[in-house]
Amino acid sequence: MTSPLISFFTSLASRRVVETVTPERTLADVVLPPQTRRTLEQALAQVRNHTLIFHRWGLGERHTSGRGLAFNFAGPPGTGKTICAEAIAHTLGKKLLVVDYAEAESMWFGETPKNIVATFRAAAEQNAVLFFDEADAIATRRSAGVPLPHDRESNLTINVLLRELEAFNGIVIFATNLAANFDPAFERRIRTHVLFEMPGVAERARIWELQIHPKKTPLAPDVDFRQLAERYVVSGGDIKNAVIKAAAAAAAEPGPDLGKRICQRHFECATEEVLSAKVIMQQSLFNEGGVTTPDPLNVWRKVEARWRTAILMALGLAGTALVAALVAVALVLLR
Ligand SMILES: Nc1ncnc2c1ncn2[C@@H]1O[C@H](COP(=O)(O)OP(=O)(O)O)[C@@H](O)[C@H]1O
Ligand SMILES: [Mg+2]
Repeated sequence: MTSPLISFFTSLASRRVVETVTPERTLADVVLPPQTRRTLEQALAQVRNHTLIFHRWGLGERHTSGRGLAFNFAGPPGTGKTICAEAIAHTLGKKLLVVDYAEAESMWFGETPKNIVATFRAAAEQNAVLFFDEADAIATRRSAGVPLPHDRESNLTINVLLRELEAFNGIVIFATNLAANFDPAFERRIRTHVLFEMPGVAERARIWELQIHPKKTPLAPDVDFRQLAERYVVSGGDIKNAVIKAAAAAAAEPGPDLGKRICQRHFECATEEVLSAKVIMQQSLFNEGGVTTPDPLNVWRKVEARWRTAILMALGLAGTALVAALVAVALVLLR
């Protein structure tokens, strides 16, 4: 049975932070540069051998900790980390328990460690592959020096994660961007880093093809995916968005549905739109000097944490004063 805590979060349909997925996409749906594919195959071989030695060879019964396998999928957005996690779960015949970590951290604020424990328990109960998506925050936030209450929670979260990883007898995948920096204790528990690079021309051409239905999607005779792949340096995620935009534009054209076709110009306009949307997004992430604009949520959290500390200190002082006053009154009365 799923933990009540997890059920509560999974029931928040609009902002799902923990979700169990029955994988549909397989490794055949993923197009990867040869080196990435090789590392992934090696990771899968480790999983298979792991099952052999810990289950069939009985070592799992002798060793109660350190039986899990943790992988880090590192790469820019849209390079296929999430579909690969799904495909791996599919290959292993398991469900995928996805935690949107970036979202989880802000929703679970104050309760992250406890929810991490519940998540690992849910993954064990469902025998699912546990996938921490957007896990950069885990990697980069262990702080040194005098911590703020929020940093303390981050440090505690990492410690809980390390403990759970040590005790978990399954597969955990983290997805991070390339800049992510794991702290050494965490690094030791990651078995393999799989680097997801931007696709090259050949991979892009194949991803374009995979994004349409081979029989049902009506394409005009001028469509040339190779040409699109050569012209636009985009990620698989961008191609997916461009295909949907192109189809929407073709469908919106006047005339009977039967005569509608997606043409090369639809794909070209859509890809250019996707690319310019990315430029706008990047500009809004950085101000003119190239300095990151502070995340308002983080600023708010820190302010909130400071206030909380101040209130706790005030309450502590008031409590001490009250106790001192009571002791003084008692002393006067006892004389
Ligand atoms: N390497 C790839 N092969 C096939 N499709 C891809 C690939 N990368 C991305 N896509 C497409 O883009 C979508 C988003 O990719 P996703 O796996 O979410 O990327 P990431 O997790 O790295 O941000 C996928 O659902 C898929 O349709
Ligand atoms: Mg993803």
